[in-house]
Amino acid sequence: MKIVHTIKEVRDIVKGWKKQGLSVGFVPTMGYLHEGHGSLVEMASKENDRVVVSIFVNPIQFGPKEDFSSYPRDLERDGKIVEAAGGDLIFNPSNEEMYLGDFSTYVDMNGITEGLCGAKRPGHFRGVCTVVTKLFNIVLPDKAYFGEKDAQQLAVIKRMVRDLDIPVEIVPCPIVRESDGLAMSSRNTYLNKEERKAALVLSRSLNSAKEALLQGERSAENIKSMISEILTEEPLARIDYVNVVDSLSLTEVVTIDKSVLIAIAVFIGKTRLIDNFIFEV
Ligand code: PAJ
Repeated sequence: MKIVHTIKEVRDIVKGWKKQGLSVGFVPTMGYLHEGHGSLVEMASKENDRVVVSIFVNPIQFGPKEDFSSYPRDLERDGKIVEAAGGDLIFNPSNEEMYLGDFSTYVDMNGITEGLCGAKRPGHFRGVCTVVTKLFNIVLPDKAYFGEKDAQQLAVIKRMVRDLDIPVEIVPCPIVRESDGLAMSSRNTYLNKEERKAALVLSRSLNSAKEALLQGERSAENIKSMISEILTEEPLARIDYVNVVDSLSLTEVVTIDKSVLIAIAVFIGKTRLIDNFIFEV
């Protein structure tokens, strides 16, 4: 397993692999890796001859009041996780390597970026689409792996690849959770002991909603109220959004009669956490 910091190094290594006819899988990340990221790398190494993992805390996808500067970083530990999961190359560029001083080209998207996290984090998906396009152009992977934990991001990347004819197959990967149900996230490290306990309210509220859906509840309003009520009972939790949307178009639904995404974002103290599940009727 090798770590490189420049675009040229990645291009040279990948070119060598392609010359040998090897397939390339790619897992873009912002580092501070956990088993969720590890599962993506494992899946990629099962399906490809070589796997590249990028570790880059992308400044342009953070809002001015968000946690760009405090985002956790630990390249040494990340290296071990990538190696154990079967990764071959880490690309860890500097901000200057990715964004030249007069950088001025962005990839933007309407529609599905406008609700959920997009509504709460203006400019976020423009930053994500721009960096992922750049990374695809640098790595030129056959397949790229994204977690269902970030359901809107996955939908946005699939749409971008389709709309811009980017020749890469997007592979969705299931959410990996802690044994008590909390979805793994690099941001869980911000939680103190009390907040960590309180954070269980996210998965608990979604499990109740899932139960109600299985018992035949089909009103999106009722599902949203049920989730909100459970979240409100937790004093350390503050709801950012609770929504039920069509799982493809991400538009709001009234009656649940097709595949829907039930997605929530909740502040636990100062930490914003997201979770979701897909329900197929
Ligand atoms: P990051 O938050 O580091 O996540 C990298 C990838 O890991 C994403 O595809 C995310 O959905 C996936 N992931 C995170 N937690 C997961 C979990 N508990 N289970 C399964 N998959 C999980 O998402 C980003 O970085 C950035 O926006 C990026 C795409 C790298 C662009 O900067």
